[in-house]
Amino acid sequence: MTGHSPQPTAPRARLVHTPHSVAVPEGSSLLAALERAGRRDVPVGCRNGGCGVCKVQVLEGDYRCGPMSRRHVAADQQDQGFALACRLYPISDLAFRPAPTPVDDLARSRAISS
Ligand code: FES
Repeated sequence: MTGHSPQPTAPRARLVHTPHSVAVPEGSSLLAALERAGRRDVPVGCRNGGCGVCKVQVLEGDYRCGPMSRRHVAADQQDQGFALACRLYPISDLAFRPAPTPVDDLARSRAISS
């Protein structure tokens, strides 16, 4: 046996509202799997749970999280499915979306007020 292709049973992570999904082998974070697949759906920063740029929201599926900065994912946000993709390890197939950034929120509030 050669190569490092994902096991057939590896959970798949799907970007909501798209057909795009990637296999996430055991021990791999969502962010690492996206990078390996050449996907740029989630911004990449420190890769160690500290900067917060890779924040996503999981809408379906099970996962576990490694250590994450509470500054970027508060406990109540974590309860709502928010997590840092570099510290997110899928247990089942899941659906996710990039979390809105403060810039997105600002643009949305300006669009509403104009
Ligand atoms: S890349 Fe920095 S927290 Fe994930």
